[in-house]
Formats: sequence, C-alpha cells, structure tokens
Amino acid sequence: MNSQKYADVLVIGSGAAGLTVALKLAPSLSVALVSKNSLAEGSSLYAQGGIAAVLDQQDDSFAAHIEDTLEAGAGLCDPEVVRFTVEKGPQAVRWLIDQGVRFSYQDPDQPDRGYHLTKEGGHSHRRVLHAADATGLAIETTLEQQVKQHPNIAVYEQHLAIDLITTEKLGLSPNRCVGAYVFDKASRHIEVFRARFVVLATGGASKVYLYTSNPDSSTGDGIAMAWRAGCRIANMEFNQFHPTCLYHPHAKSYLITEAIRGEGGKLLLPDGSRFMQRFDSRGELAPRDIVARAIDHEMKRLGSDFVYLDISHKPSKFITTHFPNVYAKCLEFGYNLCTQPIPVVPAAHYTCGGVLTDLNATTDIAGLYAIGETACTLLHGANRMASNSLLECLVFAMAAQQHILASADKVKPPPALPEWDESRVTDSDEEVVVAHNWDELRRFMWDYVGIVRTNKRLQRAASRVDLLLHEIDEYYGNFRVTNDLIELRNLTVVADLIIRSARQRRESRGLHYTLDYPRPDNSKTPQPTILQAARRFSTDNSFLVPVN
Ligand code: FAD
Ligand code: SIN
Repeated sequence: MNSQKYADVLVIGSGAAGLTVALKLAPSLSVALVSKNSLAEGSSLYAQGGIAAVLDQQDDSFAAHIEDTLEAGAGLCDPEVVRFTVEKGPQAVRWLIDQGVRFSYQDPDQPDRGYHLTKEGGHSHRRVLHAADATGLAIETTLEQQVKQHPNIAVYEQHLAIDLITTEKLGLSPNRCVGAYVFDKASRHIEVFRARFVVLATGGASKVYLYTSNPDSSTGDGIAMAWRAGCRIANMEFNQFHPTCLYHPHAKSYLITEAIRGEGGKLLLPDGSRFMQRFDSRGELAPRDIVARAIDHEMKRLGSDFVYLDISHKPSKFITTHFPNVYAKCLEFGYNLCTQPIPVVPAAHYTCGGVLTDLNATTDIAGLYAIGETACTLLHGANRMASNSLLECLVFAMAAQQHILASADKVKPPPALPEWDESRVTDSDEEVVVAHNWDELRRFMWDYVGIVRTNKRLQRAASRVDLLLHEIDEYYGNFRVTNDLIELRNLTVVADLIIRSARQRRESRGLHYTLDYPRPDNSKTPQPTILQAARRFSTDNSFLVPVN
C-alpha cells in the first residue's frame, strides 16, 4: 500500500491534450502525469501545419468553419460537437498565446498586423494559425516547461500505463475508474496509481500501419485500455492517410505539411502533369481522403512508387521562411524544395475513431475521461479536416477540466487497490515472437485494411488478427510484461476494432473506401459505428483481461 501513488487526477499521456488538462487542473487539484517516453514525445510534438480557429470574424465566420468541418466529415459529424468546438476555438488559441506559444505573424516586424493564417485542405478560408512549420514543437515545449515547474503536478516520464483499474473489475459497484497499473520502464516494476479521476490522453493508433507519419508512441494504448475496461469505441474504420509524406528509404514517412499545398504546392505525376482536378474541383486542396485516394489510384495505375509535390514556383525566400524545417529535412535527403519537385506518398496519419465521449469528455465509466486523438467526440465524423485535431485537444481538455472541477467535491479518494500479481509469470524465453507479430500485424493492416479495402481483404485481415489475439493473450498470461508486449497487445486490439468496424460499414464514406460498396449508402441517415465491449473479467493474475 505504501508504494501506491495517489493524486486527485491521474492524467495518462503528455501531448497537447494531456499537458493542457494537467495545467488547467493543477491550480485546484493534485495531478499525476504519466507518460511512456520523455514528456514532449508524441504526435503533438511533430504537428506542422497549425491549429484551426476563427480569430477574424470579418473575413471568416464560425458558420464557415462549421460548414467546412461538416463537409469534410461526410455526414458523420455530430453538428452540436462541431459547433461547440469551433465556437471555443478562439478561447483555446488565446489560452495558448497566454502560455507563451509564439505563432507566426503576418509580418514579424509589425505584430499589430496580426497572425499569419494559412490554408489547408477542406478549409474555405485562411484560418490556420501556425508557428512556421513546427507548430507542435512550439505548443508542446511551451506547455512542457510549465508542467515541469508546476508544484501541483507530479511528472512520471518513462512510465507506461498498462490497464485501468475499475471498481467493477474488483467486484464492487457502482462502477468507477479508480486508477491504473503503470509499468516503470527503468525499474521494470509495475506500480499502482490511485486517483479520484483518470484522464486518458494517449493519442492515436496509426502505428498499427506499416507506413505512418506518427511517432512510435501512437500504439492506441488508451483505446485498448478503455475497451478492456468496458467503454464503447466508435468509428474505428476511419483511419486517415495523409497524402504527402516524403518518399525516401530513410525518411520514415516524414510528413510534408498540407500547408505547402495551401500555399500553392502542386501534385504532379512522374511526367510532370497535374492530376488532382480530374478527381475533385478543389484540386490539391480537396479533403485528405480524396487526395490520398487519388494519389493511391495514380500510383497503382502507373506502377509508380510515388507522385511529386512541387512548390518550386514560389520565391525561395517565401519557402524557407514559411517551411524552414521541411526545407531543411528535404535537403538532408538530397531534395531542394526551392528548385525541384519532391517525391511523396500517403501514410497513416490520424485515428478519427476512439473512446466514445460526450461534450464533457466523459466516457461510459464514471471518473474516466478521454481527450485528444484517443477520444471519439464525433467532431471529425468520417474524415478529419486538417488542423482541427490540435483544436479538439485543447477544447476537450478544457471541457474535461470543467467537468472534473464541478464534480470534485462529491468524489472521495479510492481505498488501497490490489497490487499487480506477478506470482505466476516468468521471463519470456522467446522475445522473437513479439517482434515477429509486430511486423506481421502492421504489414497485413497496410495491405488489407489500408486506403482501399474489399470484403475479401477484410476477411483475410480478420482471420489473421484472431490468431494474433489468441497468441498474444496466451503469451501475456504466461510471461512478465515488457514495453513491446504491452504495445503489441494494444495494437492488436486496435487492429481488431478497426477490422470489425470496417466490416460493419457496407458503404464507402469519408476515409472508409471499399471496392465492394464504392458509394455512400444514402438510403438512410448515416450512423457512427459503435462497438460495445464484452465485459467479463477473470480473477487470476491477468484479472484485467476480459474473458470472452
Ligand atoms: P499525442 O500528442 O500523440 O500524445 C500522446 C501522449 O500519450 C504521448 O505523451 C505518449 O507518450 C503518451 N502515451 C501513449 N500511450 C501511453 C501509455 N500507455 N502510458 C503512458 N503514456 C502514454 N494536427 C493538427 O491539428 N495540426 C497539425 O498541424 C498537425 N500536424 C501533424 C503532423 C504530424 C507529423 C502528426 C503525426 C500529426 C499531426 N497532427 C496535426 C495531428 C495532431 O498532432 C495529433 O492528433 C494531436 O497532436 C494528438 O495529441 P494528443 O495529445 O491526443 O496525443
Ligand atoms: C499537416 O501539416 O499537413 C498536418 C495537419 C494535420 O494533420 O492537421
């Protein structure tokens, strides 16, 4: 019991969503912030294009931002959530500015002329604030600094949450989330964190695909933990593929920001001709699902490994000022953005689905909140519009804070919780199984559950994921946990959720495209895909694992 950690609020994950909620809560409540790598690491750190918000009501309007978001979401956004998020956008951005985030000005010598706003796919107006092409770095490092200095926030880096602890799992009622088991990567010890409230802010799951713009942390841990605890998970078939990542054997799908197309970048075939107008009248600035599919189609048609992105018609000064990091990274790989087109390919980028939440960021379990990419607020519907994600992280972190503060007086600290039981497990003698399964999973997800799907491909993927789930459960039950095993287990759960959701959707809509039903089914009102967890828990060492 003495070794158990306690805080009023346990925040799991330290991207834009986790850092924001921790900072907003800390003046009133004690916060334990656990993060599986160093604090700043996560997708937020790498965000390039910016954060969408209507700051200028003269040229732009809330109505236009709402309309664009609904249009990109292909009939599956919740209009109330879209309005809520868009209207809170200016407040969220102002809070970031107050924390010290330095967004790019139109003219750095004349700040009173206002911020430079860029444009991205699906946006009818310039409304994306940015810090050159490294917006995430500016946000994440600014908030990180403040979190580390805050006396009411205890930071646990290199701590990987394994599973949530709920009263239901302990055989008690009513059901409530009361903490989590957390793997300390340095000591390899599993610690108990008790809390009155738990916030999942663990980011997305794009690492389930072989090629992804995301860092290694995007293994869907929060989605898998919430699912195992009994939460509903929604819209997992809608995984977004970013159209333009650098094609180079050593570039690891480095993202080339959509803002380059927003500022006039053109997509070209190997013969130098443009092609996007053939697919959509908005050309290069059509929503991402359309651009990614068009590129995939042209690559397959021509047997090409990539298409080109060209902004070299713009003055070099403009390119190096607006895109200094992308420019430098491309040069590292031998491409000069100022003088030549660069080769690009799509890669998995964003998980639109996740833990189903409401306007307060609450989940199906009392005391458990989900925010940021791990949640499914139904803001994005079937396809997220560029730069709406950072906005959602901020807005729902603030919504969660308000709800927690409003209920804090009524919730007592939980009692001592059972320690993690390792008495029946041993060290693995076959770590190769984990490495092999990681590779296999990510490859078949890319091949069978990628940009273009079919019934047959999904069936193949379903058979394979069943085998993996079985094998990993057995392995998990017998051997001491490791970082890779925990992440693989979560990724496999997420893969299963994606495949099941994709098989349920018998139409093409937004990011879900299948050759067997190539059009949207407009005969009825479109509905989100909601999966309901089967909740039964065994009582042995792995009592956190649902038994099916
Ligand atoms: P993340 O920032 O991914 O943070 C997740 C955190 O959870 C990390 O700290 C991670 O270590 C931690 N974590 C995960 N699992 C566990 C666990 N089990 N235990 C403990 N800790 C855990 N969106 C925009 O709106 N604008 C952009 O310009 C933009 N550009 C992007 C560029 C790139 C290259 C990428 C990858 C994404 C971009 N996105 C952009 C999307 C956006 O960055 C993300 O959706 C958003 O940052 C997610 O924030 P988050 O806080 O939910 O998760
Ligand atoms: C980008 O800069 O292209 C990424 C923007 C986003 O994912 O919202």
